[in-house]
Amino acid sequence: MSDTEKQKIIIAIDGFSSCGKSTFAKSIAARLGYIFIDTGAMYRAVTLYAQEHGAIRSGIIDEDAVVRLLDEIAITFRFNPERGASDIYVNGDRVEGRIRTIEVSNCVSGVSAIPAVRRKLVAMQQEMGRRRGVVMDGRDIGTVVFPDAELKIFMTADPAVRARRRYDELKAKGDDVSLEAIERNVRERDKADMGRTISPLRQAEDAVVLDNSHMTVEEQMAWFMKEYSKRVGILREA
Ligand code: DC
Repeated sequence: MSDTEKQKIIIAIDGFSSCGKSTFAKSIAARLGYIFIDTGAMYRAVTLYAQEHGAIRSGIIDEDAVVRLLDEIAITFRFNPERGASDIYVNGDRVEGRIRTIEVSNCVSGVSAIPAVRRKLVAMQQEMGRRRGVVMDGRDIGTVVFPDAELKIFMTADPAVRARRRYDELKAKGDDVSLEAIERNVRERDKADMGRTISPLRQAEDAVVLDNSHMTVEEQMAWFMKEYSKRVGILREA
């Protein structure tokens, strides 16, 4: 390991859905010159591949068929300067735009609960973080993927605030949605994420909590830089 690699750390960001984890992780990575890895995109990519290869039909997941496909799925990331983040590819095919559809969103929880899927993706994520210098966001990064990450952040926000943000986002895109339905969905997903038997969402004991219910993006970044300096200072002294 080179001296520069030794100074780089792993930043694990976990938390509830619609908390702004990816936006936050992306800005941190840009600020530090780190690589940003969106692990949710990996679970979405497997789900899309399963849908396109007959392992999910009309929303019904054939778990054995998904597991059989796993060996033929190669996931890679390539930096896209236009987005300021990496695009995700499956077997060389850029799927970034196709993984965020409602069809994928509806099935991804089921796919991410399959143990063999988690084993494969967790191993890939660990390999990607081997050289440190990564900001990884997901649900189990600080607890399962990198329990030894030097800085762990657990993001949360009031469900009503998260629902409002999601509502504004969808409205801006022209979707006809109701705030009540979104809030119900946010609360249901919180329950599903925390309640699943394999790698449930939970706060690592050594994680610092960021409740961004009433914080601007700039305030979140200022909060992060303080935590980061504190952590790096402690590591230097150790
Ligand atoms: O962050 P996201 O909404 O794009 O994640 C998509 C799904 O993948 C979500 O249902 C939770 C799951 N997921 C997971 O189980 N573990 C991760 N590390 C990241 C996402």
